[in-house]
Amino acid sequence: MEKIVSLCKRRGFIFPGSEIYGGLTGFYDFGPLGAELKFNLKQAWWRDVVQRREEVVGLSAAIIMNPKVWEASGHVSGFSDQLIECKKCHRRYRPEDISKVEKGCETCGGQEFTEPRLFNLMFRTFVGPVEDSASVAYLRPETAGGIFVNFKNVLDTMRVKIPFGIAQIGRAFRNEINPKDYIFRTREFEQMELEYFVKPGEDEKYFDQWVGERLRWYESIGLKHIRKREQSPEERAHYSKATVDIEYEFPFGWKEIEGIANRGDFDLKSHAKHSGQNLTYFDDQTEERYLPYVIEPSAGVDRIMLALLCDAYCEEDDRVFLKLHPVLAPYKVAVFPLLANKPELVNKTKEIYDKLKKNFITAWDDRGNIGKRYYSQDEIGTPFCITVDFESLENNTVTVRDRDTMKQERVAVGELSSYLKNKLNA
Ligand code: GAP
Repeated sequence: MEKIVSLCKRRGFIFPGSEIYGGLTGFYDFGPLGAELKFNLKQAWWRDVVQRREEVVGLSAAIIMNPKVWEASGHVSGFSDQLIECKKCHRRYRPEDISKVEKGCETCGGQEFTEPRLFNLMFRTFVGPVEDSASVAYLRPETAGGIFVNFKNVLDTMRVKIPFGIAQIGRAFRNEINPKDYIFRTREFEQMELEYFVKPGEDEKYFDQWVGERLRWYESIGLKHIRKREQSPEERAHYSKATVDIEYEFPFGWKEIEGIANRGDFDLKSHAKHSGQNLTYFDDQTEERYLPYVIEPSAGVDRIMLALLCDAYCEEDDRVFLKLHPVLAPYKVAVFPLLANKPELVNKTKEIYDKLKKNFITAWDDRGNIGKRYYSQDEIGTPFCITVDFESLENNTVTVRDRDTMKQERVAVGELSSYLKNKLNA
């Protein structure tokens, strides 16, 4: 982990949040390369879960919603963790972390803790200028709330027929007692959630189907070292009839990156009751009216990103490289003039760079020597590096080096775009 954290900081993937003020526990900022990687990951999910499926539509709901949403969903009363407090320094922990801290409370030397008590994980804020109980609102603890609340709007505006899904990518906030493991457990993070509405009785079939779909999706983006694990009844969230976690083997152990839950009709039933609205679905084929059940694959962008970085990190002889799937890599290609002080090489490289930049996210590098530039691009996962050399001036070809094999091929400049397109699509 230390090597990954250091690479992410050094190469502009991830910075501690508010770093110049000493940081803020549980918050991170994503640098230029981290922002690209995150964007590519979200785009891949949106393309596969929403755009390429006929029966799924997207949504982008507000983060702050009417607080009644979270009363209906059970989050106001039930979304809490147990916490214990060190009687000496008043630092707070989850009871399961006690074995790690009881031998002298990490830093303060304290040995005694309070009895466990419940702590609600939702962040509270106030809407408008008056800070009283009538203006309390919450930052959403899951994006799903926005989907359930808009179920009727989507039914009324889109020609959706059961089974169908509503998907959303967005920020969620949890005042975690003990944020830890870098960006694995933070207080602000992004979720990619799908609520897939099905006919009651068909929920188990679709649940199994989605577990399979999601495992295949991780394979398709090149993530290895994953497994599925069924949650025990004690582990499950208050709304869930069954949950399967997809876990990745992080350097700190097997941990959840996505949960697939069968939420039954818990949410629609409760929102119908609390809002007084009719949230049933009318099946015009069978002329039945019912409250759909929902299957929910819910993935964390930040956790998948950390899994991808851990999985991609390779050390080989004297180089470090990130073996990221080309679809996810921040830059797809880098171009270099062999020598930065030869204007004829630099000009030709610039021509190629300007052309490629229209279709591929392209990096330019003319610092140091070629070896250093390869090293630098390998470290950030750029799949291809193009070098313009003296032969290029004679026969209009360049070398293209593959990140993983380090093999070089000569390619005609006129064929570069189609060459890269083929390689990147493969
Ligand atoms: N709507 C269902 C739901 O929110 P969850 O298992 O609590 O279920 C889903 O969260 C996913 O969100 C997790 O699998 C994880 O990837 C991500 N996630 C949850 N809490 C997180 C945190 N504190 N930091 C980073 N990611 C988190």
